[in-house]
Amino acid sequence: MKMIAPLALALAAGTLTIPALAQFQKPEDAIKYRKASMTLMAHHAGRVGGMASGRIPFDAKGAADSAAALEALSRLPWEGYTPGSDKGDTRALPAIWTESAKFKEYGDKLIADTAKVSAAAKTGNLDAIRASFGAVGQTCKACHDDFRKN
Ligand code: HEC
Repeated sequence: MKMIAPLALALAAGTLTIPALAQFQKPEDAIKYRKASMTLMAHHAGRVGGMASGRIPFDAKGAADSAAALEALSRLPWEGYTPGSDKGDTRALPAIWTESAKFKEYGDKLIADTAKVSAAAKTGNLDAIRASFGAVGQTCKACHDDFRKN
């Protein structure tokens, strides 16, 4: 029975989410997962943003594929911010856990922003992609400024 107590305590304190516990064996796994998903987001944001700014030649299908990938990827990193994963090979700031509502707001905003870019990219219209992409870059930056070590 003694082994049950820490789990019951953690649940009572609301510091534990069962799916996160089930999925990540160790804090390092959660850190790796969230960093990997950020890397993938950066790849696809770089491609769409590159086309929006003219650094990469526009290709409607490539833009639509990357924008769709970015929209899907934008939902992924957040479950990697599990309790106890604030230490280790990470640039995550402690504020993520103390100001979690604000952190979640940025994450939700990114999901909404990338959905708009994806909708714009489906039309194949570069001007529409340009008009919607700026918000994504701003959201990445705003969250990094507040919640990531430089
Ligand atoms: C809600 C906050 C938030 C948003 C929005 C956000 N990031 Fe991040 N990002 C972070 C945090 C926190 C880290 C540090 C993760 C760590 O080291 O554990 C990070 C790390 C990264 C990294 C480094 C990954 C590594 O391997 O160390 C890249 C690249 C990155 N973000 C790109 C992006 C891009 C591109 C966007 C927008 C499309 C974005 N991020 C949006 C919070 C955010």
